[in-house]
Amino acid sequence: MAQDEYRTLGDKLFTYRRMVFPIDQGIDMSTEYFDSLEKFEIKDDDLFLVTFPKSGTIWTQRILTLLYEQDFPELKDKLTYDQMPWLEFRELGKEYESRPSPRLLCSHLHEHLMPRGLQSRGKIIYVFRNPKDIMVSYFHFTQFMKKLECPETYNDMLDKFFSGWMVGGCWFDHVRGWFTNKDKYNILFLSYEEMIKDLRSAVVRICNFVGKNLSDAAIDNVVEKTSFNYMKKDPLANYEFLPEDIKAPGKGNFLRKGTVGDWKNCLTVAQNERFDKVFQERMKDLQLDFVWDMTEMHG
Ligand code: PPS
Repeated sequence: MAQDEYRTLGDKLFTYRRMVFPIDQGIDMSTEYFDSLEKFEIKDDDLFLVTFPKSGTIWTQRILTLLYEQDFPELKDKLTYDQMPWLEFRELGKEYESRPSPRLLCSHLHEHLMPRGLQSRGKIIYVFRNPKDIMVSYFHFTQFMKKLECPETYNDMLDKFFSGWMVGGCWFDHVRGWFTNKDKYNILFLSYEEMIKDLRSAVVRICNFVGKNLSDAAIDNVVEKTSFNYMKKDPLANYEFLPEDIKAPGKGNFLRKGTVGDWKNCLTVAQNERFDKVFQERMKDLQLDFVWDMTEMHG
């Protein structure tokens, strides 16, 4: 079977055109919809947030929805993902064409599946994170998300991560696709770790990129409302609202640790060496630096 064809992976995931999606009856899962996205019409002021899962999506979504709060006062009390919905996980019955501008959308799509119009219009913020922390975060995520296959051990999780049989597909391909094609887009790359190190500077970088001129006090307000502790209690952003058939109660939280280097508490020396070996092989031709733990954050 060709790599690009539609096929299911167990009863929880399906793959199409080298991307992996969750099987979810509430969204449009037709291949026609995914094919149509390449031609999704882009407007000049569209703003997309693109991430591989567990890289800091809800965090950046919340920053952006707060930055645009004045533009959409009627959306202020809506869930963050309703204020800034997913391009590819489109709820049945919804459409984005007539959404008021500037449209804020987010996506886990690989570069080859994104609307081609973004190459001449609109802006993208791509948030990336060191992949060991992504893998650990995803492992915990599967423990409470009932619709996802739950690996029993980190060895199983490593298999999943290297094969790309997880929501979002292969992290190595995602990062490669976006970084090697970056010159085609008006794109800001931001790392989860720089957001952890200095959230205010990250918010200012975002403001400069999207052309928002906020007062110091308004920026302080966004920084305060997007701190880990604030967001953990924020019902618009903490995903605690998910019903029990989606999120198993008592099995963990979406806002879990919010830190850099937690993989050190989770992987054995052998698992870490296995990761490093694969990482070096698959990333050797990409000049990308990742911050792997808190000790690298100072200075
Ligand atoms: S998803 O499922 O792809 O939308 O997940 P995503 O939002 O990309 O990633 C979830 C991780 O982001 C952490 N997070 C934060 N860290 C620091 N500060 C803030 N405000 C914040 N908000 C979310 C969240 O805790 C998950 O990481 P882990 O390592 O599991 O804690």
